[in-house]
Amino acid sequence: MNLQVSHHLLLCVPHKTSSLCCDPTQSEESWEEIKLILKKLKLEDPNRPEGIVLRSKVDCLRVCKSGPILLIWPEGIWYKNVYPNRIETIIKSHIIEGKPQREWELKKTPLKSLSGKFN
Ligand code: FES
Repeated sequence: MNLQVSHHLLLCVPHKTSSLCCDPTQSEESWEEIKLILKKLKLEDPNRPEGIVLRSKVDCLRVCKSGPILLIWPEGIWYKNVYPNRIETIIKSHIIEGKPQREWELKKTPLKSLSGKFN
């Protein structure tokens, strides 16, 4: 199967033994909201012309502050403080309208440059 992928979302949901960028309960809530919104907006439909949106829950994105942290590829936009009530705005603006939410951006590391510095 040749799956077209438009974006990949990685959300930090820290394990209790890692360094913590946020309360793990809070990032679990953000994760549940991501699943809900992607489903609601039909972004996980394999027949979506722009491609499917993938999501992954990761233990740590090596930022360890201002979490929950959400990284969206391929643009390489790192969002800070991704609380559940920000998820729908980020997904609609970034993925559907192609306009990242600069207000909540922590860092940008496009695929060709993974050496960007944090603000
Ligand atoms: S614990 Fe979230 S980025 Fe490290």
